[in-house]
Amino acid sequence: MTTDPAARLARLADGYLTTQILYVAAELGVAEVLADGPASAAEIAAAVGAAPAPLHRVLRGLAAEHVLDELPDGRFALTAEGALLAADAPGSQRGVVLARGRVYHAAFAGLLDSVRNGGTAFDAVYGEPFFTWLAAHPEEYGLFQGSMSGRSAREAAAVVAAYDFGRFGRLVDVGGGRGVLLRAITAAHPDLGVLLFDRPEVVAGVGLPHEGGDFFAAVPPGADGYLLSRVLHDWDDGEALEILRTCRRATPDGATLVVVEAVLPARAADDAAAIRMDLHMLALLHGRERTEAEFARLLADAGFRLVRTTPAAPGCTCWRRCRSKQPRAGSRGTRTGCGSGAPRGPRACRRPGTAARPAGRRTPRRRAGPGAARGR
Ligand SMILES: C[S@@+](CC[C@H](N)C(=O)[O-])C[C@H]1O[C@@H](n2cnc3c(N)ncnc32)[C@H](O)[C@@H]1O
Repeated sequence: MTTDPAARLARLADGYLTTQILYVAAELGVAEVLADGPASAAEIAAAVGAAPAPLHRVLRGLAAEHVLDELPDGRFALTAEGALLAADAPGSQRGVVLARGRVYHAAFAGLLDSVRNGGTAFDAVYGEPFFTWLAAHPEEYGLFQGSMSGRSAREAAAVVAAYDFGRFGRLVDVGGGRGVLLRAITAAHPDLGVLLFDRPEVVAGVGLPHEGGDFFAAVPPGADGYLLSRVLHDWDDGEALEILRTCRRATPDGATLVVVEAVLPARAADDAAAIRMDLHMLALLHGRERTEAEFARLLADAGFRLVRTTPAAPGCTCWRRCRSKQPRAGSRGTRTGCGSGAPRGPRACRRPGTAARPAGRRTPRRRAGPGAARGR
């Protein structure tokens, strides 16, 4: 690694190259070919249906980043990093790479404008908020879920080790995506009753007990454990509070809400991964990473008492166990009649006087400008 500031800066400025050569390799399935053993550029090109000469240059680019090994005879082999580009590799990061190369990269081209003028880069570039656009582009929604699964696969073991989910009778994973974390939890606690809750198109056919709905309208009531993993950071404070209040309405008093999120470090260099995630939130969504004090305030406003914060994965994830507070009469956090009894569909559990909205089609946001619609 060079210490020359100009060379270092030039390398940083070339970050977009790395995003795209990784994407090309993941999209073409280079790692799947190399999983059978080293191969030449011509052999890989023939197997994936690409032009040999440009592919050779991309493969050398990956070798320069130690994603591939360039062997003395000119063939290429997988390194430990390169092996994770294969779809079926344990802990595969293919989804992470595909989502960045195909969807996020273009959104970041709108960052300057959004920093100058406000608004969300994704909304300006794609013309719609993140989840609204994804809902209309199922292939890319699949890539996004693949990216979430890739990250979740990196974190799941640490989260399971950091907290005893076996204490619950029934756990609802709210915004649980395709259930990577919930599967890891059930593997550790086979007797635990679980329910995966996410948008209907996400949970369909997921192979775990599931329910589709909109966490702004209602979440399945009456469990003693609720999990919100990497959900709140997608949303601004008003929206995050709304989600927490929906959870609060569903939780019986004394139930536990477990929140898994990164916590912003005091100094950026102390946790670069959390800072990079915050930049994703800035460019793609209306959300942000938060400090511990900001989480405590949000939770208290929603009617939860923060009991404990436990680092789960070093430099990556923290978590909070929050117990629902006794509701104050008339407070917005007060549970409605849907907080106990047998689980019902989300529409049966909405706040009196509010109409359930279809997931992904949110009512207009309060603020104007790009990102004026809340659904993502
Ligand atoms: C950042 S992902 C986190 C996924 C998972 N919990 C994890 O830790 O990997 C946020 C999840 O929220 C879901 N989501 C977004 N809007 C939603 C809504 N209105 N109702 C329910 N789920 C929603 C997305 O489909 C996505 O799976």
